Amino acid sequence: AASEVPARAAVVVVGTGVAGMTAALGLRARGVDDVLLVTKTAWDGVSGGGSTAWAQGGVAAVTGADDDVALHVADTLAAGAGACDPEAVRVLCTEGPARLVELAERGLLLDGAAPGAPADPTTWSRGLEAAHSRPRVLHAGGDATGARTSAALVAAVGAAGVPVLDRACLADLVVEDGRVAGVDLLVDGPQGRPASSRRVLADAVVLATGGAGQLFSCTTNPPEATGDGLAAAWRAGAVVADLEQLQLHPTVAATPVPFLVSEAVRGEGAVLRDEDGVRFLADPASSLADPRAELAPRDVVARAVAAVVARQDGRPALLDATALGEHLRTRFPGIDAMCAAAGLDWTREPVPVVPAAHYWMGGVATDVRGRTALPGLWAAGEVARTGVHGANRLASNSLLEGLVFADRAAADVVDVLAGAPAGGVEPGVLGQGDVEELACAGAPAIPRAELQALTWEHAGLLRDAHGLELLAKALDGAPAAGAPRTRKEIEDRSLGLCARLLVASAQRRPESLGAHFRTDAAGAAPRGADRPVLLRRAS
Ligand code: SIN
Repeated sequence: AASEVPARAAVVVVGTGVAGMTAALGLRARGVDDVLLVTKTAWDGVSGGGSTAWAQGGVAAVTGADDDVALHVADTLAAGAGACDPEAVRVLCTEGPARLVELAERGLLLDGAAPGAPADPTTWSRGLEAAHSRPRVLHAGGDATGARTSAALVAAVGAAGVPVLDRACLADLVVEDGRVAGVDLLVDGPQGRPASSRRVLADAVVLATGGAGQLFSCTTNPPEATGDGLAAAWRAGAVVADLEQLQLHPTVAATPVPFLVSEAVRGEGAVLRDEDGVRFLADPASSLADPRAELAPRDVVARAVAAVVARQDGRPALLDATALGEHLRTRFPGIDAMCAAAGLDWTREPVPVVPAAHYWMGGVATDVRGRTALPGLWAAGEVARTGVHGANRLASNSLLEGLVFADRAAADVVDVLAGAPAGGVEPGVLGQGDVEELACAGAPAIPRAELQALTWEHAGLLRDAHGLELLAKALDGAPAAGAPRTRKEIEDRSLGLCARLLVASAQRRPESLGAHFRTDAAGAAPRGADRPVLLRRAS
């Protein structure tokens, strides 16, 4: 059952995706009793909500005898286009397998595991996804990895007795004497009564609020992905990084109700065709061909799909999984059901697909302990920029990042509560670049659909200086959003601010790098993959 709103807690964790719940459990497991877990969605005892619950493909981790952590590191760095933090990647890939065992012990039954048996990674089925040199993507329920992960963690949170404050939207972080000292929340009233503003003070706040896919008109993200945590951290004075790096997923079904068609489907052998039947990523005669074909890194495949869609006057590309036949029904039961609901039999006909916004690789800059530049504030999961994704996240590394770095954040919070120095991370540790101060505190008041269409057009897959300038002008020219009184107003304010920061970051990288693709890059002085765009609010 949802908790009362306490006036304070030792640690407040905001967000109930994989990172938030893992952080809360990690704190409890290390003896911190006074943890409050906050979520803006309704806590139904089954799903934590957010993007985690929607994840299909799986979670990448080295478990096979034919695999090696060094290979996972190399694949992650290669996909990241030279923009990853190598130490963060090393941590991710090295600690991932142990976190998976822990997750299995917390109740996730991975495919291949025997129900009730002790967690044994050698039994887990492994899938292949793009840019992985080995099959290492673990999955549950076929394509229900996120939903099952969420359910296992919700049950574990319940079993651990962690109090959950639900339907409570993060409005702001409380900053006192230069450190984060709590959260300001808008908490829904009972039985339809008006929401009320509540403050919860805390010694430590862990942000795990996820991404901001709702910035775009085409997205794979759930409605709650509105960037509230990133916006609040920005207003509080945290450093943000890599915000120009937005990952698009190449294969979202272009059906009346769009849905993600997991990269794991291509990993099993599905191919992409244009409407003439040409495998445009594999046919040597195609200008879009890549030696890795449909399993090239996600940014490459997304641009190729978009090019085909443009060539076909907006008509979708085709994901042809028919060669997999009936196997599709058992391996991907969730996608199979969504195809059926759309009136498609994908064992017999291709699925029309287009790219859509999927994952924000940038975020609140952290070190490998999850510490941000603000004392008292940690961040984990999609809201964080740990440096593991660089300019293009390797498929199925996101649930892994949530598991690994949320647990690390929990460990570091415990150290700080026990008296370790509590300082925020100095900018130099966050990245190689200098932190630039940006005068941007408020948010433009733009109707959400208009904002989503503008960002999709000018800051989506293809960018140029002119489009970014148009978008910046539209945002700067809009009236400033007032103090929010409803959850919707908080979310709109978050989205407006996130859009402004995304544009500012994209304008500071005049060259193409991974997912940030500039059509006007020729001749521009390159910033370089090793210089992240680091921004902080000018005070
Ligand atoms: C997918 O299943 O294709 C999405 C997985 C991911 O984004 O890592």
